[in-house]
Parts: sequence; structure tokens; C-alpha cells
Amino acid sequence: MKLTKQEQEMLEGKHGKAVKKSMEILTALGDIYGAEKLLDVTSVQIAGVSYDNLGDAGLEFLAEMAKDGKTKVLTTLNPAGMDMENWEALGISPEFAEKQKKVIEAFKKMDVITTCTCTPYFIGNSPKYGDHIAWSESSAVAFGNSVLGAKTNREGGPSALASALTGKTPAYGMQLEENRQAQVIVNVKAKLKDIVDFGALGKVIGEKIKNKIPLIRGIEKASIEELKSFSASIATYGGTALYHIEGLTPNKTTIPKENIGVSQEEIDKAKKELNDDSDVDIVSIGCPHCSLNEIREVATLLDGKKVKKEFWICVARPIKKIADQMGYSKTIEDSGAKFACDTCMVVAPIKGRFKALATNSAKSVYYARAKNKFKTIYKPMKECVEIALKE
Ligand code: F3S
Repeated sequence: MKLTKQEQEMLEGKHGKAVKKSMEILTALGDIYGAEKLLDVTSVQIAGVSYDNLGDAGLEFLAEMAKDGKTKVLTTLNPAGMDMENWEALGISPEFAEKQKKVIEAFKKMDVITTCTCTPYFIGNSPKYGDHIAWSESSAVAFGNSVLGAKTNREGGPSALASALTGKTPAYGMQLEENRQAQVIVNVKAKLKDIVDFGALGKVIGEKIKNKIPLIRGIEKASIEELKSFSASIATYGGTALYHIEGLTPNKTTIPKENIGVSQEEIDKAKKELNDDSDVDIVSIGCPHCSLNEIREVATLLDGKKVKKEFWICVARPIKKIADQMGYSKTIEDSGAKFACDTCMVVAPIKGRFKALATNSAKSVYYARAKNKFKTIYKPMKECVEIALKE
């Protein structure tokens, strides 16, 4: 890989140990994927923040990097293993909390913004069209590439941190225009009326095309929340990091020859598959993390009522702060529902605590089953709230 004089010096250790280590990670990645050079990034999002995933080895690596590492570009974090302020209310153990706090402290020392969210684009880490970025979380990657039109590979935690500390990423994969062209046309012949339908569509398309890039036709409109849900679902059930929706998403693409369809029956079947016959003991929304509008909606649905089941609303803390200001948080908390800021159902260590989850997220269903062995109910937000209100 061809390095500039400054990059060469960074690799030689003239800019400190953390930068040297970061350059070693990035140049090794570049060599593996045949990158010819490094590119400048404008934004980073780091995953692998939960102590549940990192363990002591991960924590040691971060502490080492934090000795002299400082971010070069705006960098935020993916959800951590707990709500950093309200962890006790969510049943997290003090031992876990202590380790998780150390992880966040290490990131803070490196000047990483310690807001932990998979929707960085809602809280000010929002790159513009054409920017090279280094994001990690799969739904954020699909959203960043497809809806924002920025360019990112699906980074691992260490490579994203390396990009944060150097401002660089190797020029390969999704960073290059030639690799961002659609490979298969997907003709959607189904009515998509809400987030749950878009989640099911992501499952159907993802399972059909795996990690190919689709050009999707037949969708006339989609809200930001529906695109958020679709991004999460297509990346979870398939693995694609980029999609095009004709008339809706901003990237240009050549037109592929391969053509497949998605019918109404397939969407209905996918929704059925995500539902088990089971008694729910936890309800959760906010996968990916809720938008302000979703918080507003759930506050309206819970106004003056009392939930009878554990109910988690997963959201970025800055969005919760706006909800505080508007009184939405009080309405929600008065009902007995709980905010789970900085975290989510998937990265928090909750295996064994619950048996069946009701959610409006197809991605949550996947991980609730695979990671936590929960049964699942997959319904729109209004019905999830109704389940939470029932004995
Ligand atoms: Fe975000 Fe957790 Fe879902 S990281 S996309 S809320 S699994």
C-alpha cells in the first residue's frame, strides 16, 4: 500500500504508540483486501463496547490505546452493556457495572464521544453524501451507506478505533464506487404499511440475496424509522452493507441483469415466522435505537396508563434528554416503563432473566432467539404497548 510521508511516520511510531498500533491494524487490513492507499475519514462509530463482548482482554487493549491515543475525527460508540446512569433499575450487577464503566472511561480518555448508540445519525454523528467514514454496527453501516450516501465498510471494533485515532481507512470494498453498484434487482409487489412490514421485507430480501447489493423497486415511500428498521433487518438476515431503493435512496447505480421478486405472501409468511406462541414477560422497542418521533408516539400510547410487564425503551441519551424537556420521559416513566439509554436488549447481559420478548424489531427477534434463547412476539409498536399493559 502506498503511504504518504505523514502516514509512514505514523506507522513508524513518530506520532505515539496508539497511532503506530492503529496504523499497523489499518495497513494489515489494507494488505489483506488489496487497498492501494489510505483515505481520510470524517466520522467513526465504534462497536464492541459492551463488556459482555469485550471481556478483560478487550478492556486491557483499550486501556493500552488510551495511554496516548486521541481521536482525530468525530467518534461515537455503539450501545454498551448497560444504561450508564440507570443500570441498577435494569437489573445489572455491580461487578458488571464496574467493568463497563472502565471501558467507557478508556474511550473518554481518547476523546471518543461517550454516547452509546446504534443510531449515531440521530445525535449529530451524521456524515454527508460521499464522505468516507468508518462505522461498525451493521444497521448503522447499512443506513450510512444507503440512506445517507456516505461510504463505509463494516468495521470491527479495533479497526474503527484505529480509524478514529488516525483519521484514516484503507481504500477497499464499500469505500470504492465500483464496489457499490447493484448486483440484483428486487421487485417488491407488496403493501408496506409500517415498521414491522419493513422489518419483514428486510428479512425476506436478506435471506434471498445474502450479501449482494440490491436495487429495490416498487417502494414509493418510507419514513426514516422504516428505513432504520429495514437497514437493521436486511443486514441481520442477509449481510448486505448497502442497498438502493429506486426513487428514495441517493446513490447512483448501474442496472444489474439478475431479477427477483418479493410478494405479499412472502412478507406475511416472514411476519408469521417471527412470532412464537408464547406468554410475554418483557416488551422492548428501540432496535435500532428510537427516534424522537418514536418516543413521542410511545409517550402518547402510555399516557395515563400503567404497564404490567417489564418494558424497555432503548434510545440514545441525547434523544432521551429532549424527551425529558418535552415531558415525554415523565409520561413514560409514570407508566412504569423504563428507558434503557446507552444499551439495548441484545448487548445487555439479560440471558436467563426473561422467557419471551414482544418487540417491533425483526433484528431484536433474531438476537433474542439466537443469543438469549427467548421466544418472541413481533408486532407494531401499538400492539407491543397493549401487550405491556395487559396482566
Ligand atoms: Fe442497536 Fe442493539 Fe438493535 S445495537 S440495532 S438496538 S441490537
